Amino acid sequence: MSTFSVAAGRLRVGDESEATTLKIGSIQLKNNLIVAPMAGVTDRPFRSLCKRLGAGMAVSEMVASNSLLWGSEKTVRRGNHEGEVEPKVIQIAGADPEMMAEAARYNVDKGADIVDINMGCPAKKICNVFAGSALLQDEALVARIVDAVVRAVEVPVTLKIRTGWNKDNRNALRIAKIAEDHGIRSLAMHGRTRACMYNGDAEYDTIRAVKGSVAIPVVANGDIETPEKAKWVLEYTGADAIMIGRAAQGRPWIFREIDHYLKTGTKLPPPGVEEIRDVLVGHLHDLYAFYGYERGVRVARKHIGWYTKGLKNSAVFRARMNTLESADLQLAAVAGFFGELSAQSGIYEMVVAAVEKPMLEVVMFQAQGNQTRAARLLGMNRNTLRKKLQQHGLD
Ligand SMILES: Cc1cc2nc3c(=O)[nH]c(=O)nc-3n(C[C@H](O)[C@H](O)[C@H](O)COP(=O)(O)O)c2cc1C
Repeated sequence: MSTFSVAAGRLRVGDESEATTLKIGSIQLKNNLIVAPMAGVTDRPFRSLCKRLGAGMAVSEMVASNSLLWGSEKTVRRGNHEGEVEPKVIQIAGADPEMMAEAARYNVDKGADIVDINMGCPAKKICNVFAGSALLQDEALVARIVDAVVRAVEVPVTLKIRTGWNKDNRNALRIAKIAEDHGIRSLAMHGRTRACMYNGDAEYDTIRAVKGSVAIPVVANGDIETPEKAKWVLEYTGADAIMIGRAAQGRPWIFREIDHYLKTGTKLPPPGVEEIRDVLVGHLHDLYAFYGYERGVRVARKHIGWYTKGLKNSAVFRARMNTLESADLQLAAVAGFFGELSAQSGIYEMVVAAVEKPMLEVVMFQAQGNQTRAARLLGMNRNTLRKKLQQHGLD
């Protein structure tokens, strides 16, 4: 079974691995790290931010294939890629092959470089109209949709799926073959069935099996939250790339951290309070510009919640922040919160926090995981070392 442990990742710290990039059709990405499509999250400001902080590609929120909705404010906004670094990827959702083909053509005319088909979304609203992951139940229909979309556009078409409809019907291998046979250029797989929703842990055995059975690039997705896990998933599944969703919420720098780890085998220090504040404030200004102030303030609340999660006094701050109605008040509250945090965290603690964990990882690697030997190398009592390893989650 595919189980990940920190130790598995840690053993490999220090390896110099080749930087890997992904090619989708003729489109070459700068690396193999992709932002997962998330309705209500991966709007243009968030996609642009993740790309600036290391992601090689970011998939838009899904847009409906139903042309009656194309003029709606929501669909127009979701399809807005103005000024975004290429490739611009639009995800389409629907169940009618001809409508899906129309939607693909429409979005390519509007500038999409890649069209992604959603067969992974478990939301009732989507599955009730037999779209998203509901389609996995009808393999003949999958073939017709994929075929129609691929024939409709010149740009590469990609597909996003789950491992199947439920645990008794894990048909990802057959769906992958259909995708390959009908011209899909890259297949992203979330390691859960539709029935699993987001429960339990993602599994990677099915992704590994699919990777072994098709020649098109396979992108592994589900529960990838750290550089170590990213490396482990790539190695375990043999996938060509990884896709990250929830772990990037409030942590867009995760792509920079993973990129660095995959290229060097060493970990970057976590961002300091000032950098988190600067990234967040920049993100807020982009949201206000994209949505307008009134809506922007409301969209921003969930992002502020994610950025500040786990920081000191953040629960109280979030409760108050959610009552503020203007951009000026929101920005002032954010500045106040981070100002207090900066004043509380002394420079000494900040530097120690930044360097201690990677240093311990290197020493543990040198000592081949033996704590007594590592303590001797550090000139430190073994109990002190054990406590420090626990503190940093390295035990
Ligand atoms: C808020 C939210 C919205 C999502 N919207 C979409 C979507 O529009 N299209 C899609 O294919 N998947 C969607 N997903 C699924 C993600 O792309 C991804 O497959 C899933 O979150 C597992 O990856 P993770 O563990 O890295 O988050 C969504 C997930 C979340 C949490």
